[in-house]
Amino acid sequence: MNYRHAFHAGNPADVMKHAALARVLAYLGRKDTPFRVLDTHAGAGLYDLAGASAQRTGEAEGGIEAVLAAELAGKLPAPAAALLAPYLDCIRTLRAEGRQLYPGSPALALALSRPQDRFLFCELNREERAKLEKRVGADARVKILAQDGWQALSAHLPPRERRGLVLVDPPFEEPGEFQRMVAGLEAAYLRFATGIFMLWYPIKDLRAVDAFRRDIARLGLPKTLKVELDFATVRSLDVLSGSGLIIVNPPFTLADELRTVLNALAPILARDGQGRARVSWLTPAG
Ligand SMILES: C[S@@+](CC[C@H](N)C(=O)[O-])C[C@H]1O[C@@H](n2cnc3c(N)ncnc32)[C@H](O)[C@@H]1O
Repeated sequence: MNYRHAFHAGNPADVMKHAALARVLAYLGRKDTPFRVLDTHAGAGLYDLAGASAQRTGEAEGGIEAVLAAELAGKLPAPAAALLAPYLDCIRTLRAEGRQLYPGSPALALALSRPQDRFLFCELNREERAKLEKRVGADARVKILAQDGWQALSAHLPPRERRGLVLVDPPFEEPGEFQRMVAGLEAAYLRFATGIFMLWYPIKDLRAVDAFRRDIARLGLPKTLKVELDFATVRSLDVLSGSGLIIVNPPFTLADELRTVLNALAPILARDGQGRARVSWLTPAG
């Protein structure tokens, strides 16, 4: 396991994923009843974009930094800015003391939750897990496990709260990750059919992505939304040209919200200014 998210934190793929995550959490927070977040591949939780790893790639410059600059310059359409507010406010709060911090999925989930909500974060890499412990481990609502995230999908579902979100965000550095995702979703859905599932995937190898979409559709789970954002027109098997999310049981407002948000973000996040967002149902909404 060589993957370190610190090199990629705040890049266009992270922005797309975290903007969607923030909308789902905003929805879950509308009811007083508690929810649980199971984050199967949690990472280090919080990132310093001024640190050596982020600076080496500079990926956040074309991601979150470009979005924050556009918002400051009033270049985000008002409806998109309003929908992005919880996510961007979380970043601004983290940066209040002047450090260029960026929330990973654990820090974002905690920031957009209430005292009654609970969190299970799985992270296999020892160093990343130690950072996660340091950054969010003191929060009594949080449990951090050194468990394989794929196993957690069976071991920890359904949650006691019977409502919540399962985020599956593997590094895609090993072969078979797409197939593992399909099998993991199928097993997890059997245990927690009312849960919201968010699965992130890279758009590099279009044939692999096509097969993955077909395999997910073939599971026949009702209410499966596909959300994709292309941020480069040049395709290559080695370079990320876009990013996707499969969302099962999305909040009823989410498809429209993400269309608004991603259509606004696409030109900002695209390397050539020609980004494209696609939001459509893989299986029917109702
Ligand atoms: C893409 S990063 C996660 C980013 C995080 N979800 C976020 O949005 O901030 C993937 C993480 O999964 C960890 N990992 C890899 N294989 C794993 C496994 N089988 N179970 C749990 N964690 C794993 C890696 O060490 C890495 O930190």
